[in-house]
Amino acid sequence: MEFIREYADWFYLIGAVLFILTLRGLSGPKTAIAGNRYGMIAMAIAVVTTFFVAENPVVWMILAAMAAGAVVGIARARTVPMTQMPETVALMHSLVGLAAVLIAVAAIIHNNKLVELGPDLLAANGVTFYEMSKVHLFELFVGCFVGAITFTASVFAYGKLAAKKWAKTISGGWVKPVQALIFIAMLAAGIHFFLTGSMTSFWAMTGLALAFGWVWIAPVGGGDMPVVVSLLNSFSGWAAAGIGFTLENNMLIVAGSLVGSSGAILSYIMCKAMNRSIINVLFGGAMGGAAAPTAATGAQVQRNYRSGSADDAGFLMSNADSVVIVPGYGMAQGRAQNAVKELANLLKEQGVTVRFAIHPVAGRMPGHMNVLLAEADVPYEDILEMDEINSDFPATDVVLVIGANDVVNPAAKDDPNSPIYGMPILEAHKARTIMVIKRSMATGYAGLDNDLFYNDKTMMIFGDAKKVVEDMTKAINGTGH
Ligand code: TAP
Repeated sequence: MEFIREYADWFYLIGAVLFILTLRGLSGPKTAIAGNRYGMIAMAIAVVTTFFVAENPVVWMILAAMAAGAVVGIARARTVPMTQMPETVALMHSLVGLAAVLIAVAAIIHNNKLVELGPDLLAANGVTFYEMSKVHLFELFVGCFVGAITFTASVFAYGKLAAKKWAKTISGGWVKPVQALIFIAMLAAGIHFFLTGSMTSFWAMTGLALAFGWVWIAPVGGGDMPVVVSLLNSFSGWAAAGIGFTLENNMLIVAGSLVGSSGAILSYIMCKAMNRSIINVLFGGAMGGAAAPTAATGAQVQRNYRSGSADDAGFLMSNADSVVIVPGYGMAQGRAQNAVKELANLLKEQGVTVRFAIHPVAGRMPGHMNVLLAEADVPYEDILEMDEINSDFPATDVVLVIGANDVVNPAAKDDPNSPIYGMPILEAHKARTIMVIKRSMATGYAGLDNDLFYNDKTMMIFGDAKKVVEDMTKAINGTGH
């Protein structure tokens, strides 16, 4: 025990290096498992070291909290379906925010208690007491309000993603002035606390920050919620880093900063892939999502499209030289990844070159398609990112779009009036033959019609992704190639 306490900084340093290796590992599918392991070891080192570094820890309380957290965490990890991952992540961020607030509150109450007892009494009992420095107050002020905003904003994001009734999107001319008012009042209370140490101001700042988190995120449309979740991930990291300063815990400062910066980078990448700016996401109001106003407008024009059967499609693909599969949200929704892998294997056995093309925002969360394809054991070398594959589409015989819509919508390139104009897409429309599996002619996430479906080269194959893909496999097997 003494040993751990004496070398705590070294243990923290090892933990910090392992956390950096974790992020490095998680940046590629091949190294992701090793990355995860580094993360687990780093977290174990951080927890154990902190346990022994703490002065007079109330051991039973810490163990009880850890046990309760472990039970809930394991139960949730075992049962959460992939489609509910974004809301689960949002809920977890809310806990980081809440922890930051509670630690700040505890640190201030603890300090006030010491002040009340007075330096003489403390000295008589062998306790040296230093009054909180301005720097300390500033850390608490920032850590607490960032944590409070993260907490309520994440709870709202969770409610929105889980379609809870209480997470109502708000809109109207009053929203921005109210947001500004609460924000300014929160800053004013925080600055007063910083200057005077007034507890009333501290509570006011915390309450206003909680309110601000809610009214800040409530106007954001469902479509932009995953970007918000990623941004809140970043916030929770900064809140943790702020609290790390308060607790003088180097590990927390490093880990918090890593989470903060990686979350910010991810938000930037997502915004870029959706052709949105972060300012636009946070303050531009709703865009996208089933309830998007853009989806409902415009007269319904009857347009012609060609539909075919799984048998026809299977036959065409087995006679092709190259097939590129473009998975989208529908593959996830229909849990079709294993069936897709079998189809790809069968085609390969028949000498067809099969590759997968992944758009950075296909599905509903970052890496959604990669995770599903990895789960189905699709070899990593067959999975190509948008930039790697886009130039290959013109030379591709068949592109098979499985439950993808927005990420292959040519309007993003051709129609300056389209809300998604400028968003990078997978250029499936350039392939020689296009096949699209979906259940109907319904729109995707952004609520927009898709010219690809009406293209002369396109064959629509209607049905649930898994069923259609299985039928294709059966059809190819039946042809005896
Ligand atoms: P979407 O544009 O949402 O289209 C998915 C299509 O799948 C729908 O048109 C739907 O048509 C079809 N589908 C649904 N369930 C199906 C099933 N069981 N079987 C067959 N088809 C099914 O998906 P996408 O192309 O992957 O694009 C993702 C969208 O989400 C983008 O707009 C993106 O900006 C947005 N978004 C992504 C993220 C991240 S980080 N990935 C985060 C937030 C928002 P039917 O109903 O006709 O079947």
